[in-house]
Amino acid sequence: MTDIDLAREIERRRTFAIISHPDAGKTTLTEKLLLYGNAIQVAGAVKAKRTGRGATADWMALEQQRGISVSTAVMQFPYRGRVLNLLDTPGHEDFSEDTYRTLSAVDSALLVIDGARGVEERTIKLMEVCRLRDTPILTFINKMDRETRDPIELLDEIERVLQIRCAPINWPLGSGRGLLGLYDLHGDRIHRYQRGSGSRIPEDLRLSGLESAAARELLADRHADVLEEVELVRGATHAFDLDDYLAGRLTPVFFGTALGNFGVRELLDQFVQWAPAPQPRATDERDVQPHEPHFSGFVFKIQANMDPRHRDRLAFLRICSGTYRKGLRVRQGRTGKEVKIAEAVTFMAGQRTATDAAVAGDIIGLHSHGAMQIGDSFSERGEAARFVGIPNFAPELFRRVSLRDPLQMKALRKGLQQLAEEGSVQVFFPVKNNDILLGAIGMLQFEVVAFRLQDEYRVAAAYEPVDIYSARWLDFPDAPTEAEFRRKASAGLAIDGASHPTYLASSRVNLALLEERFPTVAFRATREH
Ligand code: G4P
Repeated sequence: MTDIDLAREIERRRTFAIISHPDAGKTTLTEKLLLYGNAIQVAGAVKAKRTGRGATADWMALEQQRGISVSTAVMQFPYRGRVLNLLDTPGHEDFSEDTYRTLSAVDSALLVIDGARGVEERTIKLMEVCRLRDTPILTFINKMDRETRDPIELLDEIERVLQIRCAPINWPLGSGRGLLGLYDLHGDRIHRYQRGSGSRIPEDLRLSGLESAAARELLADRHADVLEEVELVRGATHAFDLDDYLAGRLTPVFFGTALGNFGVRELLDQFVQWAPAPQPRATDERDVQPHEPHFSGFVFKIQANMDPRHRDRLAFLRICSGTYRKGLRVRQGRTGKEVKIAEAVTFMAGQRTATDAAVAGDIIGLHSHGAMQIGDSFSERGEAARFVGIPNFAPELFRRVSLRDPLQMKALRKGLQQLAEEGSVQVFFPVKNNDILLGAIGMLQFEVVAFRLQDEYRVAAAYEPVDIYSARWLDFPDAPTEAEFRRKASAGLAIDGASHPTYLASSRVNLALLEERFPTVAFRATREH
C-alpha cells in the first residue's frame, strides 16, 4: 500500500464502543447500527468457524448457562465510505475490567441513556473511565417511544452528574404514544416517526421547517407549544462545537428509539462525520502517529480460546500505526523478542473494504500460547516503547482462595498467574501471611475464574469473601519512607501479581487516615501494565 493509500484507509476508520447502564438499549442499538452497516461478523463467529463446532470450550458453557456474553466482540462494518470498528463490551449487568480496558482501545464512545431512567450508576463509572483519556462521547437518549422524563431535565442531569456540556442536535416532538417525530435543531427539518420500522431501514420522511404548512399539520394544536419549547431549548443549551466534542468537553445529544429504529440513522450519519479517525497514541517515550508506515499496537484484551485442550488464547490488538500483513515481524516490547505474526484474525465484514490488510485503528486477533499479556506493545521498527493508558483498575471486590487439597498449590499458582495475565482477575499476596487474595471489579469475574481453575487446571478451591474496601498501588518517594510504611502499615500491605506493592484498605476511613499519615506516598487507584 502506498503512503497515500494507507493514509486514506486510516482516515476512514472510526473505532468506538457503545457504553451504557444495563438495559438502556446497547444491544438493540448495536443491532440497528449493523442493519445500516449491512454487515455483521463477530469475533465469536470467526473463531467458531476456525475451531469447528464441536470444540466449544466448557467455560463457554458458562456464558450460555447464564445467558450472558463474557467476551468482548469486535464488529467491523462499512457505512457511508467509512469503516466502523465497533468494540462491544459485555452486556450483562455484572461487568468487569474488560469493559474498562476496551475503552483504552477506542477513539470515541457512544453513550446510550434510557430516557425514562436518565443517568444511572454504571453510566457514571463508565464516564469516569472515558475521562481518563478525554474520550469524545456522543449521547443517544433512547426509548423515546415510551413515556420518558422531560428532555430538558435529562440534559440537565447529564450536565450535572456526568460533568459534560450537552448540545442537543435534535429534539423529540412528544414521547411515548405521542411521539410524532424529531426536530433537527441544526437543519430546521422534522423527521417524522413511523411506527413498525424496527427491523428494517425506515423510509426517510422529512418535512421542511417548523413553520411549514406540513409541520403545522403534523403538530396541529401542539404547534405553538413546540415553537416555544424549541426556542427555550435553543436559548438554554449549548451549541455544538466540534473541538469541544473532540476534547471530551461537550457531548452532542440525539434522541430516538433503538427498538423503533428511529433517530438511529441521524445519529449514525453525524457520528461518521464527527467522530475522530484513529488518534495518535502515547507511549512512555513518544507519541505514535497512526500514519507512520511501520506497524505498532498493543494488546488490550486476551480471551481464552474455545478449545481448552490447547490452552490457546486470542489476544486482541489495537493497531496504532501502519498496516498488518501476514508474516509481519515485530518486536514485543516487554520481552525484547522478535515475533512473527503468521496468522491474525481480522474482523472484516464488509464487501467494500479495499484491502484485506488491517490498518491503524483496526483490531486484529492473534493466537497466543501464553506468550502475550495485556498491555504488551509490538513494534515493527523494533522500538521498546510501551503504549500507556491500559490500566488495571483498583478492585472493589475481594475473595480469599483456599485450596481443598494443599498439593494443588503449584497448579493454583500457575492457573492464577495465567488468568491474571489474561486480565481475568487480579491477584494479591499479603505480606503478613500466606493468603492468596483475588480482586475484581465485577462479581462475574470470580465465577469465571473459579470455573476455569476447576475446568482447565483441575483446581478445586473455596472462595471466601474478605473484608477489604479497596486496593491502592503504592509509589514511595524514597527508601526511608518505604521502610517506615512497611513498619507502620504492614497489616494492609500486599504484593500484586506483577510484584508491585499494594495497600489493601479495610475501609474508606482507614485509607484516608493512611493517606494523611504518608502524604508523600502515592496511592494509585489504577496501575499501568
Ligand atoms: P442492553 O444491551 O443495554 O442491556 O439493553 P437491550 O438492548 O437488551 O435492551 C433492554 C430492553 O429494552 C429490551 O427489552 C429492549 O427490547 C428494550 N429496548 C431497547 N431499546 C428500546 C426502545 O427504544 N424502546 C423501547 N420501548 N424498548 C427498548 P426486554 O424486554 O428486556 O428484552 P426483549 O425481550 O425485548 O429482547
